[in-house]
Amino acid sequence: MAGKIVILTGAGLSAESGLGTFRDEGGLWSQHRIEDVATPEGFARDPQLVHDFYNARRVQAAQATPNPAHDALAQLQRAWSGDVVIVTQNVDRLHERAGASALHMHGELARALCAACGARWDAAPRMSPESPCPSCGALATRPDVVWFGEMPYHMDEIADHLNSCTIFAAIGTSGQVYPAAGFVQEARSTGAETVELNLEMTEISRTFDSRHIGPASKVVPAWVDSLLT
Ligand code: OAD
Repeated sequence: MAGKIVILTGAGLSAESGLGTFRDEGGLWSQHRIEDVATPEGFARDPQLVHDFYNARRVQAAQATPNPAHDALAQLQRAWSGDVVIVTQNVDRLHERAGASALHMHGELARALCAACGARWDAAPRMSPESPCPSCGALATRPDVVWFGEMPYHMDEIADHLNSCTIFAAIGTSGQVYPAAGFVQEARSTGAETVELNLEMTEISRTFDSRHIGPASKVVPAWVDSLLT
């Protein structure tokens, strides 16, 4: 069997690599206010606080290593006879470090963005409001991550893939944040088979044709094996 597989990944995929999720008990959004650390308005109010939040996450992400679920998806991308497009909401680089390529719709911790001129470059481990943009010199350096109220990246390319895939899978994502939460409907409307892999049922579980419930490090390698054999 060939055809295109589109895989949407979320924080649950990296949970077993030691990176916290957002909405599980004790998750990031129970410790920090979204308005303070994940909106352009929060950054305008207190850029140091926002940099401190992402600096800590950048260090943590750099120390984390891919788990068997990242490895299995990289193996699928290598071995599947059609295209395997990974679209991730995660801002870590664990897909790449496992040997896969991914579209980062919510940006990347490892990249910096100048809010004044739009230049992008590799982020220093610790960013600060005092670091000037290497391109225009403005003191408007921010993490290259997408905040609430901003448009996610690669949306046209992702829509094309959703409209032409034969299988759509969502892994380790709660299905609470749009536009990603709507991808399953988009893929379904063009006839794709849809599958959810998650530790537990989500609010949108019933939208999928099938579900694999369990930790990503177990259910993802098993699902990949079933596709490749
Ligand atoms: P959430 O924290 O909302 O959801 C994580 C999901 O992973 C939940 O459904 C958990 O049940 C599941 N999960 C936890 N541990 C797991 C494991 N070991 N194996 C499999 N599943 C597991 O994270 P996301 O859905 O990724 O955006 O959140 C989406 C977006 O909301 C993020 O990209 C971020 C956040 O606000 C921005 O910051 C713009």
